[in-house]
Amino acid sequence: MLDWSEPNSQKPTIMPPAALPADTDGHAAGLGAISRGAGRVSVDEKAMINCRADVNQLLPLKYRWAWEKYLAGCNNHWMPTEVSMQADIALWKSRDGLTEDERRSIKRNLGFFAASESLVANNIVLAIYRHLTNPECRQYLLRQAFEEAVHTHTFQYIVESLGLDEGELFNMYREVPSITDKAAWALKHTQHLDDPDFKTGTLETDQAFLRDLIAFYVCFEGMWFYTGFAQILSLGRRNKMVGIAEQYQYILRDESIHLNFGIDVINQIKAENPHLWTRAFQDEVRQMLTDAASLEAAYGRDTMPRGFLGLNAALCEQYMHFIANRRCAQLGLGPVFAETENPFPWMSEAMDLKKEKNFFETRVIEYQNGGALNWE
Ligand SMILES: [Fe+2]
Ligand SMILES: [Fe+2]
Repeated sequence: MLDWSEPNSQKPTIMPPAALPADTDGHAAGLGAISRGAGRVSVDEKAMINCRADVNQLLPLKYRWAWEKYLAGCNNHWMPTEVSMQADIALWKSRDGLTEDERRSIKRNLGFFAASESLVANNIVLAIYRHLTNPECRQYLLRQAFEEAVHTHTFQYIVESLGLDEGELFNMYREVPSITDKAAWALKHTQHLDDPDFKTGTLETDQAFLRDLIAFYVCFEGMWFYTGFAQILSLGRRNKMVGIAEQYQYILRDESIHLNFGIDVINQIKAENPHLWTRAFQDEVRQMLTDAASLEAAYGRDTMPRGFLGLNAALCEQYMHFIANRRCAQLGLGPVFAETENPFPWMSEAMDLKKEKNFFETRVIEYQNGGALNWE
């Protein structure tokens, strides 16, 4: 049984900061000229960033935690079309099955995720992959990129099944200010790293790379997605939109591994490059998490102006504070908010797919690795 609740179950491997020159010939990307007859890669030569060892040689493995997450991702394979949408379609088309507040919240939730999956995928492919110079981490990134495609597919499938306005949903990140604000906050990091002139290898650019990892893995996938999951899973617990809720459970399981991979990557880079984790930079990271929580609180007020069925903007804000403090702890930082209770303790139960039969009373697809993932 795999438990991703505590990243770094294997302590990061510590090696001295690499005194390596910045990549000038595509070597770090794996695109440099092939060095004929060059020696084999040894474990000691491998590093997370600014590595000069050949990134095209997966073995020998150095970061087993990355490889294990790749295997776990493969074992969790699922497709949205395996989930029946019949009950959702009947409820969505019924006149009085859902309140106007519930419909608004569902549509905004879907709109946020529909574009966000794409933003996350773009960041992996266009920003992170290029600068993360380790083949086992890249192997996981390739798996994650595919999973983000499956998640985008999920929203296409939902739009088609329910007969939703596809333009309204997929363009929502440009039309609804509280969603635009979150997307724009994260996107600037991708844009910075996607600049062809951007190269890691200096204090400034290595910190910029860390900033991107924190913005996407910790804030986007590790904070914002969790309120989104809570909204839909809350409806699912009340037997509403059970097909979407089941799909969100699978997405949540994937995202839990994405988050924990990101935390491991960040902590490993910190261990190998302690000079990057300055006091000023730590303060900046704490501010990023605080800002991300504020953006999410604004989104909560926008999507649930009156609240429904035990869920409201104030509880979502409290949940975000609880999650933000937890993410700080995972990064080795002090809390950014006053200590608070988890207002949605049932979220950890939602991670346990074996309980799903009773939980959603819907079709269960047993996956090889569908065990408990206690993120709390
Ligand atoms: Fe995703
Ligand atoms: Fe993800």
